Amino acid sequence: MSTATESTAATAGLRGVVAAQSSIGDVNGEEGILIYQGYNIHDLAEHSTFEEVIFLLWNGRLPKSDEFEEFEKQIRANYDAPPEALALMKQFPKEADPMDVLRTAVSSLDFYDKDGHGTDREHAIKAAIKLTGQIGTLAAAWDRIRNGKDVISPDKSLNIAENFLYMLRGEKPNADEAHMFDVCLILHADHELNASTFTTRVVAGTLADMYGAVTAGLAALAGPLHGGANTNVMKMLLEIGDLDKVEPWVDQALAEKRKIMGIGHAVYKTEDPRATWLRKFSKQMADKTGVSKWFDMSQKIEQLMHEKKGMFPNVDFYSASTYYLMGIPLDLYTPIFAVSRISGWTGHILEQYGHNKLIRPRAEYIGPRDLKYVPINERGNG
Ligand code: COA
Repeated sequence: MSTATESTAATAGLRGVVAAQSSIGDVNGEEGILIYQGYNIHDLAEHSTFEEVIFLLWNGRLPKSDEFEEFEKQIRANYDAPPEALALMKQFPKEADPMDVLRTAVSSLDFYDKDGHGTDREHAIKAAIKLTGQIGTLAAAWDRIRNGKDVISPDKSLNIAENFLYMLRGEKPNADEAHMFDVCLILHADHELNASTFTTRVVAGTLADMYGAVTAGLAALAGPLHGGANTNVMKMLLEIGDLDKVEPWVDQALAEKRKIMGIGHAVYKTEDPRATWLRKFSKQMADKTGVSKWFDMSQKIEQLMHEKKGMFPNVDFYSASTYYLMGIPLDLYTPIFAVSRISGWTGHILEQYGHNKLIRPRAEYIGPRDLKYVPINERGNG
């Protein structure tokens, strides 16, 4: 029989533990295959749109034409954020981290949705549509607000990807860039029971509302070991600064047992299939802008980490240089991840509400027992 310490180590981080049944997404870490509701991510990235993927994640099937039209209309009708939420954001310190801002602003949306507490499918879907429609508006608005610029109202003739870039920059993206960004949103939409999605399911499992569950997901996604890694990848590339410096930098980081951001994955033991697309986009942006440095450095890090540690890049690795060359501020990379991942979170929350059971695991107690309580005045000092 294993000791208590050994068995805790074996389940540290709940690796390999199956904590829910789900039909939303599946990660095959050995073969590097990701599916959403049965469809391979490569097929969806090649042929689908982010809005269609949202429908798929929530409904378990692809929409028919008229359904899709109606669905897209509903999302676009909910692009506008409540003016009160935007007014609230204007009170925040300008240097606030955009993920902290997004978490707080998204939480406040609950006040302006009178049906937002319903956890039955009809009400929960409505809340999911509002949240999915508004989150990009809030994320883009914050960048305008903190830079003292006017907030740009969403344009309902644009899809989520186009609209986000439009509200951020005040200019509509060209078709190529809009398509590339749309595929980025598809790639980040769901990833089975990742930390933030599990968080949303735990919160939803208490029958807390969609807003509370998504707010908790945002808090989890912000961490540097999860969605926060993409910003840190770009910080790392900027810190290294030059292709020639990559190898000594990586050697030193490994010698100091520091983790290289954007590398490694809790489930994939081979190439993350999303990284395949993002590598292509990073190269595409390098070719388009004539700035190949960040792509070249990323490729070198990838090669070294494979040679030295047998590790592969994850979704965050090449998204960093892609977004950087799109001119997106570094600290908006994780909010963009959230603009996409909200589709997976809300899908999982709907699934959780549909077959709810309070999530309440046990801890293996490894502390002392039977201690005798000593009153404070008998414990001495120091
Ligand atoms: N750079 C260098 N070494 C790494 C590493 C990285 N990015 N990721 C893992 N390792 C090493 C660890 O140091 C550890 O080595 P050791 O056994 O000698 O101590 C070993 O690999 C296992 O690491 P661990 O963190 O326990 O594995 P995990 O399965 O929990 O790791 C991540 C998953 C994603 C948390 C981890 O790879 C990581 O922190 N990556 C960087 C952050 C990141 O990109 N996150 C986004 C994930 S999509």
